This record gives sequence, C-alpha cells and structure tokens, in this order.
Amino acid sequence: MAVPAPVLYPPFNIVRLSHIEFTVTDLGASRAFYADTLGLQITDSDARAIYMRAMEERVHHCVVLKQGDAPCVGYLGFKLYDEPDLEKAQDYFRSRQLPVEWVERPYQGRTLRTRDEHGIPLEFHVTMDRLPPIHQKYALYKGVKPLRIDHFNCFTPDVDASTEFYNAIGFRLTEYTQDEVTGRLWASWLHRKGGVHDIAFTNGFGPRLHHTAFWAANPLHIIDLLDVMSTTGYLGHIERGPGRHGISNAFFLYVRDPDGHRIEIYTSDYQTVDPEHEPIKWDLKDPQRQTLWGAPAPRSWFEEGSVFAGVEPHKATLEATPIVAP
Ligand SMILES: [Fe+2]
Repeated sequence: MAVPAPVLYPPFNIVRLSHIEFTVTDLGASRAFYADTLGLQITDSDARAIYMRAMEERVHHCVVLKQGDAPCVGYLGFKLYDEPDLEKAQDYFRSRQLPVEWVERPYQGRTLRTRDEHGIPLEFHVTMDRLPPIHQKYALYKGVKPLRIDHFNCFTPDVDASTEFYNAIGFRLTEYTQDEVTGRLWASWLHRKGGVHDIAFTNGFGPRLHHTAFWAANPLHIIDLLDVMSTTGYLGHIERGPGRHGISNAFFLYVRDPDGHRIEIYTSDYQTVDPEHEPIKWDLKDPQRQTLWGAPAPRSWFEEGSVFAGVEPHKATLEATPIVAP
C-alpha cells in the first residue's frame, strides 16, 4: 500500500508510550532480572506484583510484573496529554466498534482500556503518581543504568492494517520495509514522542509482542551489562547483539527475561519531531537494515514472541520472505 500521510491533528493526543504489564511465572526470578541485573528501580512490590521505573522517569512505573501461571502481556500503556483526550479516545474507539471500558489501575488516574483491530490490549491514561527525581542519585544506578522506556515492537498478521490504525491516531511513520512484489508493508516504525518509534510492527504470527525497549545512555553501559549477564548465570538469556541497527541507527542488545519476554536495550537513535519528516524506505533484501554491521539475527528473533492475555494470534496474511543471511 502507499505509505499513509501523517495525521497532524489526530482525534486525541497521545504523548508517548508509558508502561507495560507482563505476567511472569516467578516473581522472585523476574525481580533478580529486571531490578538486580538490568537496574530498574522498584517503586512498589508485594507477593503478587512488582512496579518499577527507570532512572529518569518521574512517574510511578514503566513496568508492572504480575505473578501468574503462564507468561503473557496484559496490555500496552500510553499516556495522553490531558483529561478531555480520554473522552475523545473513548468516542473514537467506540465509533469504530472497538470495546471500551474504564479500568482501575493502582497509581494511575482514570484509565481507558480498549484494543486495536487485531486485539492488542491498549490502555490510556493522563495522570500517574509522580515521584521525586532520581536521575542524579548516582548511587542508585546499576545494571545497564536504564533511563526510560523507549518503545514496543509487535508482530502483526497485517502490517498495512496496523500501520493505518496507528497512523490514524497520530503515530507518524519514520522508517519501513515494503514487499516489492505485492507492494505491502513488511515492517513499520511509528512515533509520537519525537524518536524513531514508540511502537513498531513486523509481519508475522500475531498479534504478539516482539520486544520492549529501554533507553541507556551509551553503548558502554550495554557492554557492561553483557559482562555482568555472562558471568552471573544469564549467558543463555543474551539473544542478539550488541550491534547497530540500520533501521533507526540505534545501538542495541536483545536479552530474554526468565519467562522469555524479550527486552531490548537501545540507545542513540535520532530526532523525528518535525511534522514533515520523511519516512525512510528500506529494501527487504538489504541485510544492513537489521544490523548495519551485517551480522544476521538468530532464528528465535524472527519466530518467538510474547502472547497478549486472552488474544489468539493468527498467521500473517503476507507470506514470509526467506530470511536473508548476509
Ligand atoms: Fe526495538
């Protein structure tokens, strides 16, 4: 399909991605991974849940871990600009026959829950409890010294449809790959907050979450994390990288949490805030789109992802292109 034109005056105003809820099967093991190893700060915890934020975040949490029987993702959370945006969002999703409900979430103001047209659970809020800044409390920094949540990346069975859906609510396309034969999108990267993406979509068995990314200050922190993980029992959790992406130009590392949820550590992409910013098209056959230095991703990276709670994934409508090994 043709790349959609940006919607500069969307039906409601999304500021940025905000947080994610993971269901995990062993809260203690997840605490050791996310807090002790990656370095997220615990802001509350009990026997059933852990709330965490990254170092420069002034809101209560960017990750919620919930104890459960099987790993899954509860929802993707987004912050809206102001209270009237919640009603506008409710009206918008209702008018598209999508389910809407108001849900109670600890540490948050009014929260609207809906789903996208493939079933990805989405939650929108305006306010979350504010906490004192800790970005200059250097004694608290550990692990990869994560500064903030950066983006979600999802498998979708129809990248054209997902791109249109999120484009219509104000996400702006920054980079994409397109199948040359059919003209259909293979993957797309879309933002609200002025970086390369708040959310991205890749063709595949979905919807499923491919990964959640956290921003680190520089690549050396990622190297430090590799040294720590490889000597503390997490060697098998290092999946891909470190490397530099072609798409986004970011430096990256992919690791897996104790339940297999994929986490990216990401740094140094570029600013995209200009409204006329042109999206960059990549050739699907170009191995440098994924890793600028040419190293191929492992098969698990193409195939494995986290299911969303109660959502049955479907086969992609666009047939898989063979993996290009450089
Ligand atoms: Fe990513």
